[in-house]
Amino acid sequence: MAALADPPRAVLTTSSHERLEQQLANRYHEPPSEAQYLGLSTHTIFDENYAKVEQQTRCLMLSHKQLASIELILENEFKRGLHRDTNSVADIKMYPTHIRDKPQTYKILGHFAEPDEGKFLALDLGGTNFRVILVELLTDNFHMENEVYSLTQKLTTGPGSDLFDYIADCLVKFVSKHNLQGHRLPLGFTFSFPCEQESLSHARLVTWTKGFTCSGVEGENVTELLTAAIKRHTDLDIEVMAVLNDTVGTLVSCAYQNRECRLGLIVGTGTNACYMERVNEVHRMHPGDDEQQENNSHDAHDHLHETTVVNTEWGAFGDNGTLDFMRTKWDFEIDAASADVGKQLFEKMIGGLHIGELSRRVIVDIAINMKLLFHQQPKQTSCLADSEKLFHRRQLLIEGKLNQKYSLQSKYVSLIESDPVDRFENTRLALLESFGIDWASDQDCALVKMICARVTTRAAHLVSAAVACLLNKMARPHTVVGVDGSMFRYHPHFRSIMAKKTKELVRDQFRFQLMFSEDGSGKGAAIVAAVASKQRRISMEMLRNKQLENISSCS
Ligand code: BGC
Repeated sequence: MAALADPPRAVLTTSSHERLEQQLANRYHEPPSEAQYLGLSTHTIFDENYAKVEQQTRCLMLSHKQLASIELILENEFKRGLHRDTNSVADIKMYPTHIRDKPQTYKILGHFAEPDEGKFLALDLGGTNFRVILVELLTDNFHMENEVYSLTQKLTTGPGSDLFDYIADCLVKFVSKHNLQGHRLPLGFTFSFPCEQESLSHARLVTWTKGFTCSGVEGENVTELLTAAIKRHTDLDIEVMAVLNDTVGTLVSCAYQNRECRLGLIVGTGTNACYMERVNEVHRMHPGDDEQQENNSHDAHDHLHETTVVNTEWGAFGDNGTLDFMRTKWDFEIDAASADVGKQLFEKMIGGLHIGELSRRVIVDIAINMKLLFHQQPKQTSCLADSEKLFHRRQLLIEGKLNQKYSLQSKYVSLIESDPVDRFENTRLALLESFGIDWASDQDCALVKMICARVTTRAAHLVSAAVACLLNKMARPHTVVGVDGSMFRYHPHFRSIMAKKTKELVRDQFRFQLMFSEDGSGKGAAIVAAVASKQRRISMEMLRNKQLENISSCS
């Protein structure tokens, strides 16, 4: 009796992490063809099952027309967020930052201003890890060292004081490891959540996102919480000079290298973008800013040309139902099972926190409800060993990890999609490590890969529509877009799919360039802290000179 043929097993000689790193190094730079990334590749397996799954997952594909209308809806949402009269009811809040571009003067913090030289610290909180970074800014370049500290679920969902104590503790360890005691250390804090920015160095958390739910932080000034925690842990001379969003850090660090950079984009655990907007368009500026604008009316002409960084917080796009026409049942399920039901709906279709889970939910539907995946039948089942094997496999599908929420991490989606056409080594490894499935046929693998490709392609297309919307709004002949985040960095095709679709959606006369910013968010925070330091030093020098002048005129 022929035994049930085992499909080829994944060779487990390298850990998945090493493999991911390897994939990163060999990342495809050539965009895949349209057919390839939609799963209609040259896979040899085109049979009835394939056709059925292809049909069932078409709802994940967005037509050019749909994307163009998403862009239009978003443009309107941006307007509502910017305008004082509609801001309170808008989903996309368009938070003004205190970073302005007014190149001719040092008084306003221009994002092109030359920062001070020296050593600066940055903290980066907002994803799966927390980072402390030391940036040494030199005349023409910079030097960076950083340490990554893991964040447990207990920390991201427990009392806020525990989270800030942990941050302060990591900071103290970092300072001692890098022998920084005795230095005055200006610090930039990248805090990647929606905040009302009260000043450059003070921000109030509006709401947590990305699964963080720490108590006692929403509505609070995060700089004060951080400063108090630092004081509880050490007498180090650390001063928080700036607190900023990761998109802003990315924009600033890219602008430091390329002055055409006007847009900062993150496609990581979450998604968001900031951009340079003309100050007179930002009707919802802070009361203090309005005053400043009026007092400065003498340079009204300058003011017209002045721009400020606006943190869009576009993750909340669709929270009022405007995107329901394209959300699938899997999107509704993800939201219903989340800690923040009805919130961050755009982000839940794009961010790395959810891409794996979205793909898993589609796979579960196809495998368990439709029985079109992992159900390979042996030719004859009269052999006892085969029947037992089959029984065991069915049990594993229903009771095993496949049916457990968040068992497929987004890094495995990237791994699956990095398999070349008709080769499934990475897919098998991902299925084994995520779900314990070791019997996937080539056809199963091709289908899993198609599902993942559809989920990530939709994410890339949604980001493209949003980026195109901002580029069309800014209406500049050439704009550099600074980008950071794990989806953009690790997914083998995200970048090329996004570049292609954005080009299709942006008006012909506006050109753009995507600039990958390695560790941009942290670096940007250090640069802003350095500029703020310089600004303060110059103000103090001016004050001292004035006092000296007064003394000499009196004598
Ligand atoms: C946050 C943003 C952040 C983005 C990317 C979102 O969940 O609300 O502030 O920029 O994630 O990290």
